[in-house]
Amino acid sequence: MNALPPAVEMRGIVKRFPGVVANDHVDLTVQAGQIHALLGENGAGKSTLMNVLAGLYRPDAGEIRIHGQPVEIRSPRDATRLGIGMVHQHFMLVQPQTVAENIILGLSRPRFRLDMRTIEAQIRELSARYGLEVDPTAYIWQLSVGEQQRVEILKMLYRGADILILDEPTAVLTPQESEELGRTLRHMVQEGRTIIFITHKLDEVMAFSDRVTVLRRGQKVADLVTAETSKRELARQMVGREVVFYIDRSEYPVQDEVKAKARPLLVVENLSALSDKGLPALRGISFEVYPYEILGIAGVAGNGQRELAEVITGLRPATGGRILLCERDATNKPPRHAIDLGLSHIPEDRMHTGLIASMTVCDNLILKEYRRPLLSRLGFLVQRAIALFSDRLIREFEIATPSRDTQLKSLSGGNLQRALLAREIASGGNLMVAVHPTRGLDIGATEWVQRKLLEQRQKGAAILLISEDLDELLAVSDRIAVMYEGKIMGIVPAQEAHVEEIGLMMAGVIPERRGV
Ligand SMILES: Nc1ncnc2c1ncn2[C@@H]1O[C@H](COP(=O)(O)OP(=O)(O)OP(=O)(O)O)[C@@H](O)[C@H]1O
Ligand SMILES: [Mg+2]
Repeated sequence: MNALPPAVEMRGIVKRFPGVVANDHVDLTVQAGQIHALLGENGAGKSTLMNVLAGLYRPDAGEIRIHGQPVEIRSPRDATRLGIGMVHQHFMLVQPQTVAENIILGLSRPRFRLDMRTIEAQIRELSARYGLEVDPTAYIWQLSVGEQQRVEILKMLYRGADILILDEPTAVLTPQESEELGRTLRHMVQEGRTIIFITHKLDEVMAFSDRVTVLRRGQKVADLVTAETSKRELARQMVGREVVFYIDRSEYPVQDEVKAKARPLLVVENLSALSDKGLPALRGISFEVYPYEILGIAGVAGNGQRELAEVITGLRPATGGRILLCERDATNKPPRHAIDLGLSHIPEDRMHTGLIASMTVCDNLILKEYRRPLLSRLGFLVQRAIALFSDRLIREFEIATPSRDTQLKSLSGGNLQRALLAREIASGGNLMVAVHPTRGLDIGATEWVQRKLLEQRQKGAAILLISEDLDELLAVSDRIAVMYEGKIMGIVPAQEAHVEEIGLMMAGVIPERRGV
């Protein structure tokens, strides 16, 4: 039997940016009706390659065939016409519009002829068919990140995409949502569609994909059949060395006597706050974080974790209770106050709260430093000191950037995170609030960040670590507090914690015999 031609064939794709070859003669063959995973470290060139396929970038060299036919993809419109649709790493939805309006946005049919009712019905039908539940009349700003992603996928399906590209679709999802997405993707390929998905999570690659292509530093290094490989092999291909999956905390010892004498650097007392929608998000939360300690906060997204981080860092008002930073009252003070007390913050949303995309790498690195005497003498920023300071951070934190004067937005996702961590660790005192610090990072970089957190702890920092990744929490925390519906269900020492027990608390059940 003569097999179908591959859905996608990319040959010798070259894409250069100033100072980098993002894709260096890359070949990629994706069989129709399969789920194909694209793996690689941060900055390996995955998003670039897919942006070429989606018509956002013109390659400097190379050929593309779609279902066996040679094609030129000059614009996203060309890609749509060829049945290629992409859901980007950073979503591109219009917040003040409804789901249905977003889905038809940019379609070339005359808008006045469109009947919203019919469109909404069509969307509902697609939603039901693929288990992508979302209300077509809801406004985007009302939706959770997981729901927004469903809108992006529905948008592609509505346009008739039969080759779907998903750039790190699960980086923003809870474990349950990720599993659901996996089932949806399976369903789509059973109907004959083709899916390319980029991820850093090897469990997902093993669970959902048929084949895997690995990129390293812009080049293709492996094409594998998922069933014939392993997580370890994939990790080795990606990073080019053996990778430790879990860090041994005993490599970062802390003296118990020193720790015992310490006073807490962060005290949260009976804290309450409201969500964006004006509903109670924190309902009387209390805990302390001591020097030489990482307190992990576990919980399913949306149970108050984000609000907690925002109230502590001064970005959201408290409606009750008290916060002490380094033994000083910091309740309802501006963010500058917390920064002056030495608080570092790795926010959930790097692009909007953490970094300024249109500024250079260097400017982002010194954002919090400009008041330092060395860097700003008599109010003038001393150029040479700044250059030295930022080059040191770029080196020390291994930020892959052509130079300090590169615009931040051209860095890859993982390198953005490194820049943020570099600035926060360099500027910070002894107190850090880290929200999903390893989200979107490759395994090598995840290991690196976790080690940085443990190093800070070993130097005496108090760290509040908010994460949805239980393995991560168990690996690096000293104690784990579980949040559910704005309350703390319990706090357990990480070494004695059981995954099942924490899982129950995450679902709102207080296990028996557990004191706090
Ligand atoms: N628009 C751009 N301008 C300049 N350089 C870019 C641009 N887009 C990407 N690059 C560079 O190309 C290289 C590959 O980036 P790309 O975003 O494709 O990586 P990635 O594999 O998707 O990484 P991540 O896992 O971190 O998202 C990086 O060095 C990045 O800095
Ligand atoms: Mg990317």
